[in-house]
Amino acid sequence: MQQYVVANWKMFLRRKDAEHLAKHLARHVIESEEALPKVILCPSHPYLIPVHEHIKGSSVSLGAQGCHPQHLGPNTGEVGVQQVKDVNAEYVLIGHSEQRREHTERTNEHIRSLAEMVIEHGMIPILCVGETAEERKKGRAKQAVAKKIQEETPRKFRPGQLLVAYEPAWAIGTDKTPTRKEIEEMHEAIGYELEKLTPNGKLIPVLYGGSVDPKNAEEILRCKGVHGVVVGRHGTKLDNLWAIIKAHNAHEHEENEG
Ligand code: PGA
Repeated sequence: MQQYVVANWKMFLRRKDAEHLAKHLARHVIESEEALPKVILCPSHPYLIPVHEHIKGSSVSLGAQGCHPQHLGPNTGEVGVQQVKDVNAEYVLIGHSEQRREHTERTNEHIRSLAEMVIEHGMIPILCVGETAEERKKGRAKQAVAKKIQEETPRKFRPGQLLVAYEPAWAIGTDKTPTRKEIEEMHEAIGYELEKLTPNGKLIPVLYGGSVDPKNAEEILRCKGVHGVVVGRHGTKLDNLWAIIKAHNAHEHEENEG
């Protein structure tokens, strides 16, 4: 299955840093002689256009960190689904825990309709699902994530139109990561739920996100059922991001040899 590295730059970078990173990363990717995972850069909205200028002509893709489900309309301060499409976004992060925290009014249904609108506009939603620290402590991690998958996955889609990311909220920005066993269990549970929803459930890539760094990337990518990673703060420096992309490669080589 296609593997992915999604760099979610959040609100970390100024324009010049985002452009510098995009430009050099695209060059690395173009010059690489090894097969690489699909790399998706998700800058802040105002930098979608300049970042795209630097990556066009490479295999690096552009992702938006979110969008409003409405096509166009009287929504001050929002960026609509058509608008991110217009500036060449191919992917949109949806249901990120930082968005869920800031917009508690957004229901699972809202997230699902957003994912559906993204697909309708020819882009691919990256649906982020995960449990809180409290849910994990109470032994309810799997139920919490299963509920999100059941209620937030678009009703109709074909393989290739959806990515899912398992992102435990307690692992984001904390330098805490789940154990290998915990990651594999959650990915298995997500795969199971996706298969219940659609006969093609097995074909949907499931990424892991939450404190991925150059040191732990290889180990995480080796987990069963993990088809790539979402990288936050450790993906905002060229060397780190490139090391994570290459970690993926090291893991692929081992698989082919073993
Ligand atoms: P982090 O963020 O790598 O900084 O923990 C990951 C994410 O939010 O997807």
